[in-house]
Order: sequence, then C-alpha cells, then structure tokens
Amino acid sequence: MKFDFAEFVPTPDWAQLRALATEIAGKAYAPYSNYRVGAAALVDDGRFVVGCNVENASYGVGLCAECGLVSELYASGGGRLIAFVCVNGDGEVIMPCGRCRQLLFEHGGTDLQVLTPTGVLPMSEVLPQAFGPADLRRPDLEV
Ligand code: THU
Repeated sequence: MKFDFAEFVPTPDWAQLRALATEIAGKAYAPYSNYRVGAAALVDDGRFVVGCNVENASYGVGLCAECGLVSELYASGGGRLIAFVCVNGDGEVIMPCGRCRQLLFEHGGTDLQVLTPTGVLPMSEVLPQAFGPADLRRPDLEV
C-alpha cells in the first residue's frame, strides 16, 4: 500500500512548540504593557511559524503575537495551521485574545488544536459557533 502524503497530518510536539513560543516571547517589543507574548504553531507541511507582540506608542496600533505568526505563515509559503500555543514572558501558557481567536480560525479552522492552560482543545471549543469563510459562502477557504 502506498503512503498518501496528502492525507498526512503532522503530530504536534507540544513541548517543542512551547519552547519555540517561549523563545520568541523573549524578542517581544512590549515597553508599554511590559507583558511579553510569544506564539508558535505547526503548519500542515511540518514547518513551524512564530510571532511576538510588537507594541506602539499609539497603543491601539500594537500587534499581538498572533499577527506576526500569521504574517510569517504567508511570508514563508502559506498553508494551514495544525497546532498552536501562546505563552507569556514566563513561558506560561495563556489563551489567545478574542480577536486573535478569530485570526487563528481563518487559518486553522475548527480542527486547529490549541494548547490552553487546561489542556489541548479544538478551535471549535476555543471559538464556538465562529463566523468564518462559510458565512461568506467561501467553502474553498474552509477546512
Ligand atoms: N497579546 C498578544 O500578543 N496576544 C494575545 O493573544 C493576548 C494579548 C499582547 C497584546 C499586548 O501587547 C499585550 O499582550 C498586553 O495585552
């Protein structure tokens, strides 16, 4: 029997993802809140993407760590997010903010696995009844 690479979904190594997130949190630019955030995700082709928060003197313009992560996702070739974690500056797992749950949903869908402080949850539980591509009748963008 042939191995079907199209069906292959990489298994997340949560310890590795968490270590990547903690490392990138150390590069955050958070002089206003003093709250560093690092985010890391596994992409469906097996590569990793990361991001850190980048604040701004005009507070509302600040970028969450997830924004940088999604930017790297596209800058490095696109794909779908399989597994995600974000941590604070002490490496503790935190929940993504509401806006970023929406951002992650767009690029990982309902099956994206999210490491939360209480364990791994699917995106369908992290952002229940999400508004998304299906509502705009874009099934080509769904997973
Ligand atoms: N922050 C993130 O980067 N991601 C989140 O999901 C939660 C909040 C950042 C935004 C701001 O720079 C700092 O954490 C404090 O809110």
